[in-house]
Amino acid sequence: MTRKDLIVGNWKMNASHLEAIQMVQKLSYRLDHGDYDRVEVVVAPPFTSLRSVQTVIEADRLRIVLGAQNAHWEESGAFTGEVSAPMLAKLSVRHVIVGHSERRQGLGETDEMVARKARAIVEAGMNPIVCVGETLEQREGGEAENVVVSQVIGSLARLGPEAVASSSVAYEPIWAIGTGRTALPDDAGTMAGVIRETVSNKVSTEAAESVRLLYGGSVNAANIKDFMAKGDVDGALVGGASLDPDSFAAIVRYWV
Ligand code: PGA
Repeated sequence: MTRKDLIVGNWKMNASHLEAIQMVQKLSYRLDHGDYDRVEVVVAPPFTSLRSVQTVIEADRLRIVLGAQNAHWEESGAFTGEVSAPMLAKLSVRHVIVGHSERRQGLGETDEMVARKARAIVEAGMNPIVCVGETLEQREGGEAENVVVSQVIGSLARLGPEAVASSSVAYEPIWAIGTGRTALPDDAGTMAGVIRETVSNKVSTEAAESVRLLYGGSVNAANIKDFMAKGDVDGALVGGASLDPDSFAAIVRYWV
């Protein structure tokens, strides 16, 4: 089983729809067909830019894939301020980030909520990118693996083996996000191995073979290669460095 590399730009709460159009166009100028053959390239702009970016991708026939940063678990209803998975699917969104630590920590998102969101995303025909990761305190207390394993089990709890197989799990140690401090590639590789083993034990060996495991946390053009060299790391979830098309393109072309 070969898992295609997956590199996702998480734009977080950045860029107007006009800026987003320029960013995705610039990114496309810097990538060529060979790059897309090797890497699935995803950008996840804020909701307000999805329609504009979708239009550019379709009009210019770009091979960049559209992602979103969150979805509610219900299909529709009285949920002020929320966006549902079927709404995203209609915009040709293919991957949806769920359980990012900025939502778990800042907005009280639990594994149960993440599990319900992941299920809704799969039911709408898209793929969840489930984020997990420990705090610095948990790492220093020797609990990192236990924390991550329990997040993986809790967050994937509502998905069957086939759905897990087409999902991704992003290991993002919280202390490495936006701090300029990365996990050691060896630690990221080890944790990816732990996650794959957890999926193998709790879901199925086939799902474990296919699920793509990403590293996230201060990834940049200089360090991406070291993470991608780890056998169980299939890609990256990139925040800050994905906002600059030059640096994101250099991350996508990590082997150059
Ligand atoms: P960062 O963010 O690359 O800016 O550290 C990563 C993420 O939060 O997905």
